[in-house]
Amino acid sequence: MDCTSSCSNATLSEKLKADILRLKEEKKAVILAHYYVDGAIQDIADYVGDSLALAQKAASSCGDAAIVVMCGVNFMGETVKVLCPDKKVLVPDSQAGCSLADSCPADEFATFIAAHPGHTVISYVNTSVEVKALSDVLVTSSNARKIVDSFPADAKLIFGPDRNLGAYINSVTGRDMVLWDGACHVHERFSAESIAKLKKEHPEAPVLAHPECKRPVILLADKVGSTAALLEYAISSDATEFIVATESGILHQMRKGAPHKIFIPAPPIDSTCGCNDCAYMKLNSLEKLRDCLVNEEPEIVVDSELAKRALKPINRMLELSK
Ligand code: 13P
Ligand code: SF4
Repeated sequence: MDCTSSCSNATLSEKLKADILRLKEEKKAVILAHYYVDGAIQDIADYVGDSLALAQKAASSCGDAAIVVMCGVNFMGETVKVLCPDKKVLVPDSQAGCSLADSCPADEFATFIAAHPGHTVISYVNTSVEVKALSDVLVTSSNARKIVDSFPADAKLIFGPDRNLGAYINSVTGRDMVLWDGACHVHERFSAESIAKLKKEHPEAPVLAHPECKRPVILLADKVGSTAALLEYAISSDATEFIVATESGILHQMRKGAPHKIFIPAPPIDSTCGCNDCAYMKLNSLEKLRDCLVNEEPEIVVDSELAKRALKPINRMLELSK
């Protein structure tokens, strides 16, 4: 290994971290990070969580902060802005979109809703603010089942945009929700065949899968749950090896929470890709985080009327999650 470059990389990263901590104090900023961003960002954040926990954090305790930096993807920044309209909300990289949110354009979703009169619209939080504003209630993977269960058994429901999460919730609740045909490119990529093969080599390793995975992967899983639920299971379970079918960023917290355990990333369909990274989440870096604190941009801006409409289903979700 080239010690000179690895030593200077370490020094650079320490300097970046020191700058971020200083700027955070100076600018009264709070840093939120999703479990899928790089481990170094998770470690410097004031709060790390899954989508539900981050929304709850934004709603309850951005407190005195003047600035909230959302290290994740844009829809998460928009949710924070809707919940904290008086704060300046920054994201380290404005290109951090989401293939799932992109799979549900608001105008097409509005047409879909109009084609199903009398239906209540339940949307996953992984959507644009425009789609949120069209929805009756939002859910995350942590609370989707609970919120769907809160509706009468014969309620007519639309679920969007993730067809896999929707199909999973239909299967565990016995519902027949009408599903929007969207998906996340990271979670759709896992190969049930390769996971089954891996399971033969590691028969004692439970398979942990996010409900955004396709049905054949879900059927192989020992535990299906949100990012936070999978983390909790991995740390508290007696097993010492796990096959993890979700985005790679979560491995950082799993390894921190249970350093003696082995976490094996589930193989994607395209084995040449060799990783389970969300390219959007991985746009976040310490350097961009430092720069966004220096420049106070990119800033998330949401039209105030649109924000008011999006706030209702977000608040309904937070209320139903209690
Ligand atoms: P959760 O944070 O609800 O597990 O969702 C995963 C995800 O894809 C976030 O983009
Ligand atoms: Fe979107 Fe999938 Fe990335 Fe989550 S992992 S931000 S759903 S593309």
